[in-house]
Amino acid sequence: MKPIHTICYISNAAPDLSDSDIEAIFNQASTQNNEYNVSGILLYNLEHFFQVLEGDEEYIIDLYENKIKKDTRHLDIYEVYNKTTEKPVFMGYDSKFNIIKTEEDLQKIRKYLSSVRTTTSDKLTRLLRPFVIFQKLDK
Ligand SMILES: Cc1cc2nc3c(=O)[nH]c(=O)nc-3n(C[C@H](O)[C@H](O)[C@H](O)COP(=O)(O)O)c2cc1C
Repeated sequence: MKPIHTICYISNAAPDLSDSDIEAIFNQASTQNNEYNVSGILLYNLEHFFQVLEGDEEYIIDLYENKIKKDTRHLDIYEVYNKTTEKPVFMGYDSKFNIIKTEEDLQKIRKYLSSVRTTTSDKLTRLLRPFVIFQKLDK
């Protein structure tokens, strides 16, 4: 079996991003990731992105190093996790890449992560603990 790799980072969203820029990032990530069997999550909370990418090692490393890290729509990428995975966390969650848009989505992920109980999922659970999704009140 080909090695599975997990990368997790937190970054600062570029200060001038509009709602449609965010939608474009979400669409790009979910379309391409679903096409290339990348699982994980992407979350945005008005200030930060939090992303977990899990999948084929070669593809994930190339995506992260050559595209995501060079993307000017975010900056100050803080890498939390970057290693070969023995027990993929998200592959058992959903067959799709997950965009976390609402507090409800976030609760669902938290509940799932706390049920998995691997070193990675424990770490992700702790990292996600302080995250709150700020939804627009005018929607
Ligand atoms: C915060 C953030 C997260 C992103 N996540 C992904 C991702 O998970 N998958 C992806 O294909 N592109 C993602 N992108 C977009 C890539 O940086 C890049 O624009 C895109 O992969 C270019 O694809 P192309 O070379 O096929 O045009 C993300 C961009 C940002 C700013």
